[in-house]
Amino acid sequence: MIAPSILSADFANLARDARAVAGSDWLHVDVMDAHFVPNLTLGLPVVQSLLKATDIPLDCHLMIEDPGRWAPPYAEAGAHNVTFHAEAAEDPIAVARDIRAAGAKAGLSVKPNTPIEPYLEILREFDTLLVMSVEPGFGGQSFIASVLEKARIVRNLVDAGALRLIVEIDGGINADTIEQAAEAGIDCFVAGSAVYNTADPGATVQSLRSIAAAHRG
Ligand code: DX5
Ligand code: ZN
Repeated sequence: MIAPSILSADFANLARDARAVAGSDWLHVDVMDAHFVPNLTLGLPVVQSLLKATDIPLDCHLMIEDPGRWAPPYAEAGAHNVTFHAEAAEDPIAVARDIRAAGAKAGLSVKPNTPIEPYLEILREFDTLLVMSVEPGFGGQSFIASVLEKARIVRNLVDAGALRLIVEIDGGINADTIEQAAEAGIDCFVAGSAVYNTADPGATVQSLRSIAAAHRG
């Protein structure tokens, strides 16, 4: 699966830029609150408008404090997947249950330096694990390959039948780095600058998908 990140799109032309990647599996929406990360992007009203502007399922990545309070409304609005950060949640299981009760898939995200072991037990409460391969906050950063070890650990648990989970990666994914991520067993690849900083974003999505399929671990 390929999920273009609209963080690298034109915020004054989000409907147009969603159409430019028609056929993508998910459209990745980076919500930043200038507290959990040092950047500010968009929030629920923009997501509500985007839901009316595109049929691509929205993958909302909440880089915010207090997800227990702010995450469920994204699910109620109709987002397909609502992911929040392990580092920000006091009670991640409760947040996941609220998201699911509101009708969305629940995702847990971990920053590059956050170990996965403390969270393996609770991953059964989630539909998606989003492994950050850059420090969250900005597009266009370089891929941190060492995070793939976390993806491999979870991939093995999924393959062994111990978990049912989409393993997603976010940050620095492009035609070069997607190969090693695919080999590590990633299911869903977020790509922002690699998709939108090209002349034909739709064609770039197709080509990333082909490369990932050819290197599937
Ligand atoms: C960063 C965001 C990413 C960002 C990725 O905090 O979570 O989704 O859009 O951008 P690229 O693909 O350019 O690294
Ligand atoms: Zn993201």
